[in-house]
Amino acid sequence: MTNQPFHIIATTAFGLESVVKDEIKQLGYAITQTENGRVHFEGDARAVCEANLWLRCADRVLIEMGQFKAVTFDSLYEQTKALPWEALIPEDGCFPAAKISSVKSTLFSKSDGQRIVKKAVVDRLSRQYGIDVFPETGAKFPIHIRILKDVVSLCVDTSGSGLHKRGYREHAGAAPLKETMAAAMVKLSRWRPERPFLDPLCGSGTIVIEAAMIGKNIAPGLRRSFVSETWSGAWKKQYDLARQEAEQAKNDKTFRLLGSDIDGKVLKQARANAALAGVEALVAFQKLPVQKIATKRRYGVIVTNPPYGERLGDEAEMKTLYADMGRVFSGLPDWSHFILCAYPEFERYFGKKATKNRKLYNSMIKTYFYQYFGPLPKKVRRNQN
Ligand SMILES: C[S@@+](CC[C@H](N)C(=O)[O-])C[C@H]1O[C@@H](n2cnc3c(N)ncnc32)[C@H](O)[C@@H]1O
Repeated sequence: MTNQPFHIIATTAFGLESVVKDEIKQLGYAITQTENGRVHFEGDARAVCEANLWLRCADRVLIEMGQFKAVTFDSLYEQTKALPWEALIPEDGCFPAAKISSVKSTLFSKSDGQRIVKKAVVDRLSRQYGIDVFPETGAKFPIHIRILKDVVSLCVDTSGSGLHKRGYREHAGAAPLKETMAAAMVKLSRWRPERPFLDPLCGSGTIVIEAAMIGKNIAPGLRRSFVSETWSGAWKKQYDLARQEAEQAKNDKTFRLLGSDIDGKVLKQARANAALAGVEALVAFQKLPVQKIATKRRYGVIVTNPPYGERLGDEAEMKTLYADMGRVFSGLPDWSHFILCAYPEFERYFGKKATKNRKLYNSMIKTYFYQYFGPLPKKVRRNQN
């Protein structure tokens, strides 16, 4: 059953589709379609395990059971019932209609949509297995329903909790960044372990920890479990194999990444998180205001997300902070800077226009990723050409 071909979808934050596309290609799978927040590819159970274990920037990995147009609940019922749910869900499987979204569609009642999909799957499985009552005492197969412009996409979630939950962040500051977004920021910065790395407003250390995991080639899902590994012994075996390979894929590079913050309390959390992620030997956290950052090291990379004045009255303080960052960062002339900030006028106060600016959604908050590319060190330049 695990060599069955699946249509797989990696869901992403809006703006990260191209980053996730590259990650999937790197795993060796060809992309079949990309749309807002979704990257599609084909593969078997092995591909599902690898995607869950290795995708750093995706939110979830789904198996799409079918896609069709429906503008009436009758049509939703009939077309859902026509899909081969028994290919995935066993007799004792638990299959909640766990999530639904409906955008620009005739069928907008979410509770009716969930109820009808559930009924259609029950009726389909009832006919296949010859039973009327389902105990639903076995493994979970959460069904995700998306209706967009009257096109219904029915998927089974293979991840369980979102992929940002790596299993290392027990401690988070007041405004923590999603791990998937932090990893994407590091990937977009083109940082390599040969170059210095600093997050001078590091909070609970997410960006530094994700960078350390990237530098060491540690699979982001190694310390957590996935709902699809409970599906059967064959699925569990695939995960065990993929985990063993991931253990061996870690490299022996040594490097030291730095995080600093003005708040000593969050740095304690950052150190505890780094230890849980198994990267404590690769990172160091220091209490230091960004205004005091100075270094003689060259060609470094700063990746950071400063506060953006969430509370009333913060704005003046925030503008001063951005101006200070601009002054301090310009004192590091051959460094590159990458700043995620929800404040649309950041560049004005920072004092420099970004080489590139990209819109990204961090938990549905619209943010801007300001990218200031500095020169590459000669050795890295040669390797990247
Ligand atoms: C949005 S949070 C960063 C969250 C972080 N990426 C994480 O994952 O937890 C911004 C951080 O900037 C820090 N900060 C504010 N002003 C600072 C300053 N002048 N110097 C250094 N850090 C500062 C705050 O203490 C806070 O931890």
